[in-house]
Amino acid sequence: MRIDKFLSNLKYGSRSEIKTFLKDHVVKVDQLRVFTPSFEVDPNIEKVMIDDELVFYKYPIYLKLYKPSGYLSANTDELHPCVTQLIQAPYDRFDFAIAGRLDLDAEGLMILTTDGGFAHQITMPRSHVPKVYEVELDHDFDANETLMKGVMIKDGKNQMYLARALHIESYGKLVKITIDEGKFHQVKRMFEATGHLVLKLKRIRIGNLELGDLTIGSYEPFRKEEIYD
Ligand code: URA
Repeated sequence: MRIDKFLSNLKYGSRSEIKTFLKDHVVKVDQLRVFTPSFEVDPNIEKVMIDDELVFYKYPIYLKLYKPSGYLSANTDELHPCVTQLIQAPYDRFDFAIAGRLDLDAEGLMILTTDGGFAHQITMPRSHVPKVYEVELDHDFDANETLMKGVMIKDGKNQMYLARALHIESYGKLVKITIDEGKFHQVKRMFEATGHLVLKLKRIRIGNLELGDLTIGSYEPFRKEEIYD
């Protein structure tokens, strides 16, 4: 990759600004000072330093994040804080794809990755990656069987479809539900179909990846194999 593209991808400036950046800063690739924007670098192998500081680079990156309620599953928004704003150095220089969105008022496990193919792979409907949610309802739940058999609900395009739970455990108003699709407001709509309102929704697992003991708003890297392990 060209050094101007590499530095620009990491938000050090636009491609044209990098030309001046290379004059104003001491940029070295494996100890060699670089002045030419077209200089080729392999950031997976070579060390890039800016003014004697090592540039953190890694591809791909997989982060698991505990999304707080009130944060939007997006990169930018004018009204609400976004999940990517929770990401700090050195990861804040990367552009992340969000693999599996959560509603604004929902919380829990969310995957951010620079591997677009992986994000697509785990979110596309036919991948059937199971997801586990903990929900709190407005009144005691008594319809386990109904959700296991399936209920007809609307998807994001207003089309009716049969949504089924793969597994369900209930403890009064608290229910743990596993589904392997991710249609628009699916969990809320499934409970609505049984006459229950979801007051709180938290995702605790995607595949075999657990929220674990992450604290709210924090994140950590994981290996993508952990989803399937
Ligand atoms: N189902 C919902 O209704 N909301 C979410 O955020 C995730 C699943």
